[in-house]
Amino acid sequence: MTDDRSATGPGGGKRRIILLMGAAGAGKGTQADRLAVELGTPHLASGNLFRAAIAARTELGARARVYMDRGELVPDALTISMFMDELSRPSAERGAILDGFPRTVGQAAALDNVLAERGDRIDAVVYIEVPDDVLVERLAGRWVCPTCGTPYHELTDPPAASGRCDRDGTDLVQRDDDRPEVVRARLERQIPPMLEVIDHYDRSGRVVRVDGRQSIDAVTSDIMAHLAARADGRA
Ligand code: AP5
Ligand code: MG
Repeated sequence: MTDDRSATGPGGGKRRIILLMGAAGAGKGTQADRLAVELGTPHLASGNLFRAAIAARTELGARARVYMDRGELVPDALTISMFMDELSRPSAERGAILDGFPRTVGQAAALDNVLAERGDRIDAVVYIEVPDDVLVERLAGRWVCPTCGTPYHELTDPPAASGRCDRDGTDLVQRDDDRPEVVRARLERQIPPMLEVIDHYDRSGRVVRVDGRQSIDAVTSDIMAHLAARADGRA
């Protein structure tokens, strides 16, 4: 296994890029929001971008919705261009926490190419591991803010004021794709390609595994400890 942490290129590797991987309900969005605050870099979530496109009734949203409603991955051709546009915005100039992208080996290769062109690299691929039965429970109790995308859970992570987003006060909703039959499809169809992406990054020693069954705070602490250890060259 090789480790390319020392790799730099023409851009000098200035951006801090962290990938958050995990199955539906693993806690990617929850942890990405916290890491964005801790690290001062934006949280880019492919699922949130698709939901915003659906809400805005764009052509991309209409095309993506067909797949999302079935619990399938949106095709790479639509996903890659949408996500790369977001990653090239000035707000991501210093780095980003990537939530839900890449989810196929094709997306990972596209991301690797775009980063390499600028001399940037991935700092860490954080894989939040959670068993399927826990994932199903989490998605059944999840409520999200339709304005900012913040996830809550009715038992494990409730908002301060019942039914309202802590950030902007919007009424919380349940996601269309959290219906049990769609959750089953998301787990069955999306975990195998995600594991291929983990294998892809394992080959260059960039994956850190975190026990996602722990409390939200404990998962954040573990991730921060892994990132600090990597920055120190200890992991
Ligand atoms: P997306 O929105 O990314 O959905 P997902 O991957 O299925 O993940 P979720 O957002 O459901 O879960 P999460 O890991 O963010 O968990 P959360 O933090 O909310 O994608 C939606 C769809 O878009 C896909 O199905 C696909 O169709 C399409 N798509 C998106 N990206 C794509 C791509 N790259 N390529 C192709 N298609 C793509 O937490 C879940 C719940 O658990 C919450 O209630 C939370 O409060 C709670 N919780 C979190 N952590 C803990 C903890 N440690 N303990 C207890 N409760 C916890
Ligand atoms: Mg999410």
